[in-house]
Amino acid sequence: MNPVGYPINARSKIYLTITIANMLSMKLLVTRMQAFILALLVSIGSLQAKEGMWIPYLIGAVNADDMTAMGMEISAEDIYSINNSSLKDAIVHFGGGCTAELISKKGLLLTNHHCGYSQIQSHSSLKNDYLKNGFWAMNGKEELKNPGLTAAIVKYMREVTNQALMGVTATMPAAEREAKIQENIKSIVEAQKEPYEYEVKAFYYGNQYIFIAKEVFKDVRLVGAPPSSIGKYGADTDNWVWPRHTGDFSIFRVYADKENQPAEYSEENVPYTPLRHLMVNLGGTKPNDFTMVYGFPGTTNEYLPSNEIANIVNDYDPARIAVRDALLAILDKKMRENDETRIKYASKYARISNAWKKWQGEVLGLTATDAVGKKQKMEEQFEEAIAKNDVFTKEYSGLLKQMKSLYDERKPLTLERYMYLETMYYGNELVKHLLGYRGLVKLYEDGKDEELATEAAKFADRLDGFYKDYDVELDRQAMQALLPVYLKAASTEPLPEYLKGLKGKSPEQIEKYVNNLYAKALPVKDSEAWKQMLKENPKKAIKSLNKSDAMKLTMAGWDHFINVVNPKTRDYEDKLDVLQRKYLLALSEVFPTKMMYPDANSTLRVAYGKVHGYEPRDGVEYATHTYLDGVIEKYIPGDYEFDLPQKMLNLYNTKDYGRYADGDKMPVCFIASNHTTGGNSGSPALNGRGELIGLNFDRTWEGTMSDYNYDVSLCRNIMVDIRYVLFIVDKFAGAGYLVDEMDIVVPAIEEKKKEPVDMAPVGN
Ligand code: ARG
Ligand code: GLU
Repeated sequence: MNPVGYPINARSKIYLTITIANMLSMKLLVTRMQAFILALLVSIGSLQAKEGMWIPYLIGAVNADDMTAMGMEISAEDIYSINNSSLKDAIVHFGGGCTAELISKKGLLLTNHHCGYSQIQSHSSLKNDYLKNGFWAMNGKEELKNPGLTAAIVKYMREVTNQALMGVTATMPAAEREAKIQENIKSIVEAQKEPYEYEVKAFYYGNQYIFIAKEVFKDVRLVGAPPSSIGKYGADTDNWVWPRHTGDFSIFRVYADKENQPAEYSEENVPYTPLRHLMVNLGGTKPNDFTMVYGFPGTTNEYLPSNEIANIVNDYDPARIAVRDALLAILDKKMRENDETRIKYASKYARISNAWKKWQGEVLGLTATDAVGKKQKMEEQFEEAIAKNDVFTKEYSGLLKQMKSLYDERKPLTLERYMYLETMYYGNELVKHLLGYRGLVKLYEDGKDEELATEAAKFADRLDGFYKDYDVELDRQAMQALLPVYLKAASTEPLPEYLKGLKGKSPEQIEKYVNNLYAKALPVKDSEAWKQMLKENPKKAIKSLNKSDAMKLTMAGWDHFINVVNPKTRDYEDKLDVLQRKYLLALSEVFPTKMMYPDANSTLRVAYGKVHGYEPRDGVEYATHTYLDGVIEKYIPGDYEFDLPQKMLNLYNTKDYGRYADGDKMPVCFIASNHTTGGNSGSPALNGRGELIGLNFDRTWEGTMSDYNYDVSLCRNIMVDIRYVLFIVDKFAGAGYLVDEMDIVVPAIEEKKKEPVDMAPVGN
């Protein structure tokens, strides 16, 4: 065991020497910053191969040997190349929040059902309920356009740390530093001439900056989606859970102009011909097979100190979970009693329960693996090493302590911030709705009557969308439950008078106040009257609204959040950023063998691991694969989570699986130890040859802590097997023409005949 508790394998030491040799032969000018990056690269050899989200253009220098040893058959150049086409050219940032991949030379694009959900929903109506029944274009003409949806492909990335930090000094105040960096970034971007979109992103808390050029396509059409009973099978009950049986995919197509360039939607556009599209492999996986996930992970925080992890486990997550417990209980009760409410609130419930469930898993995993204890131990070793070395002492003594106490000092503010967001901003629909009137209020206050009239009328026309899915009684109950929580949390001075007044009230008085507030809240008291008033007498409408308790509460909370809580939070963040940045530098120097991959920041990354089961708790072992038999086991006719289309039952009964079967079974999902997070939804799961074998869509409950503390004993990503996707497209939907478009690799029979899939070894 090395000082940080990770086993060092012998191979990695060899690797380390090779890397140094490579680096030297590149004749790098070793400045402090480059030394930092060098240290990062050198440090990687020792890590548990599975943890981390790696920068694609550094795979050759950093991970390739490790990946090859684990079973990768392609080269780093196949994954990312600037000169030739590579797998990178098939990976798409879908709508900025998900990942997707190109799977045919005609721009066919695969992503998750939950990533395409809002597009599928937007094309759905009672008559054509694509969410419920699915949608399949049987030719190009039937595909559906999606204004605003983008598909971005990375053209190249390169390090620009020196340029980004030009003129930045060690003693600069945070705001000045940031302004200088932004100015530098602006001039880097402005110097570019190609028709791409550019960004410069900070890595390792600003120790490194990377420039990214992307080609952004704007004509992305919906091609196919299974019914929710397949694409969202198991819904909230199964969300974040293994064993899983969801066919979480949807299919789009990227269009370009006649020159194959990005263009706004036009009938003249033609299917985009990608530089590269993925081969699809029908061979499946077995335990211990190498896999990698190529995509755009959103956010992780892997380098927090132990006390902030303790704050998450003991305070932040429990407080947020408790608020959502209360909220979900209120929704659940009425959703069970009343079908109309159930339909109205299905999507809101899903949204609220997604993070709620994830946080619970996070607490569970962080506790089970003693993440705090492990970090503490590492920190002790860190402090010891610093004390023993004069250079370190001079540079870093007191750093960790200062950082830790700053996190603790910020704790009440962080809690208040979370509580505002949970109870008011996300937790109360009226408050969220009223915040939408701020523009109209401004026009009213500025005396811009004409503009107010126009805008208010437009606003009124859009209100039906809000009323359609709103239940005032449920919202009142939510406010009754959550306002006391908010009032207790709201404490950062200066507090608005209005909130101070409320904080002084007894529980009975608050109850009365809330009932009265809802009884008088104009927009929800009588929707028709309100729309009419907005149109016919906008000045009166806004004036009355402004005087209402609902609006006063909304604005008091919001103003306090924006003008007091947020700036104070930002101050802390600025200070913490400086310390975290230095801490990472210190870690890389003090533990030259400690793994240091950059936190996720919505940039293109590669994660790799193996197909592995795990032991979620004592006496329970999870297998690696699920099958259609399991889908049928969970089937509850008429249930909103576990119902199935008759056609699926028929296909199961006749075992009509075609070439997508694994023996006589139909594979559905599988898990592996790839380190992923939100944003990796829709990412391709690739085999050792870089061929598509699955589609990433979730993580296992016990492993969601990987955002702070990846632990190979519990952390697994969940993928839908590509054979299930193609089975649904071909056999279920009868859209086999889409499969014909793809390049399918069918492994030789001998290779396909593998041992029966059994429990995978846990951990390594
Ligand atoms: N847990 C997955 C993610 O974080 C899937 C969420 C969508 N599904 C759901 N039932 N809410 O995005
Ligand atoms: N469902 C998540 C997403 O939308 C992926 C699950 C995760 O957080 O790993 O990106």
